[in-house]
Amino acid sequence: MNRVNVALVGLGAFGTWHARSLRDLPQCRIAGVADADATRARQMGDALGVPAARDAQALIGDEAIDALVLAVPPFAAAEIGVAALKAGKHVFLEKPIAVTDADAAALQAAAEAHDRVLMVGYVERFNPSLRRTKALIRTGAIGQVTKISSRRASRFAGKPDWVWDRCGIVVHVVGHDLDVMRWFVDDEVERVYAEAGSLMRGDLGQPDTVCVTLRFRSGAVGIIESAWTLPSNHPAEENDTRMDVAGTAGMISVNNLDQTINLCSESSGYRLPSILRWPGNLDGDVGPLSWALKDELAHFAACVGGEAEPPVTAAHARETLRILLAINKAIETSAPVALETFRPQ
Ligand SMILES: NC(=O)c1ccc[n+]([C@@H]2O[C@H](COP(=O)([O-])OP(=O)(O)OC[C@H]3O[C@@H](n4cnc5c(N)ncnc54)[C@H](O)[C@@H]3O)[C@@H](O)[C@H]2O)c1
Repeated sequence: MNRVNVALVGLGAFGTWHARSLRDLPQCRIAGVADADATRARQMGDALGVPAARDAQALIGDEAIDALVLAVPPFAAAEIGVAALKAGKHVFLEKPIAVTDADAAALQAAAEAHDRVLMVGYVERFNPSLRRTKALIRTGAIGQVTKISSRRASRFAGKPDWVWDRCGIVVHVVGHDLDVMRWFVDDEVERVYAEAGSLMRGDLGQPDTVCVTLRFRSGAVGIIESAWTLPSNHPAEENDTRMDVAGTAGMISVNNLDQTINLCSESSGYRLPSILRWPGNLDGDVGPLSWALKDELAHFAACVGGEAEPPVTAAHARETLRILLAINKAIETSAPVALETFRPQ
């Protein structure tokens, strides 16, 4: 496997999560990091054992780097992204692509002109429950989508200043649900309307709550509620997000708090499809998902190719079996079994 040499730019809250993800991916190697905050850059560089810079340009000029992952605030991404694309690098860019259409257009043009990959990170595309929902829709489980309603709430506190000053709740948050709806309906939006509220901190002059309605060309309608009003003691680690997708022949309800989906359809009745593990038979309805069995086999293939080690070796599995047999023995004899002396038959 040829590893992709990646430079990570922007080492704030989300950049740190990208660092962790990239570090753990066998397909990638972090070759350098940058952040306008020199201390942050140095600390992450030291933690990862890679060169660190304040200015992304230092990494863009490095021939050994294939791609940049940008987790800078969205108003700062275009300048770095365009320069990287022009230098022949591939770019992964955190959502939203930008905060102005001019910047988004410049990024798109640079990617097309230089024939480089430019991927925008709307991470819900990789959310297992939403991927499974898309797969069910694709196979016609609920007929044609007629209405999607989506709720996304997070806490008011703890957002960087730029979210208020230079982005706002619509571009920062509603984009997630809008992207998912366009993906699910597979159609373009014809008309939108919205009401916004700012009762949490009216003095900031920015909405903290928004209710959007939208209509697709197909006639499907959508409702998006986004709010920075989650109580501070709410159990959600990050967001509380839920979605109901209604169709002409059924309905899917997604609860991202506990990663469950409920399917109720005219043809299959009420079901709780498995999200993470089991793909079903050869023509099952999972679509191009990643699931545990597939990931397990991909890992096995990497082991065969000498690129990975089995997480469960024969020795490990044999010891597991020995313990299981000891448990059986304990059941049979109604007595504790010491593993130190236990010898299976
Ligand atoms: N996919 C999601 O669910 C999700 C969630 C949160 C944030 N994000 C996105 O991730 C990105 C970063 O968000 P965050 O919350 O980590 O922000 P943050 O403010 O915590 O971090 C941004 C970092 O970028 C650095 N920076 C700013 N300008 C720079 C420049 N020109 N060059 C180099 N470094 C620069 C800052 O010093 C800071 O360390 C944003 O695009 C945001 O929309 C995505």
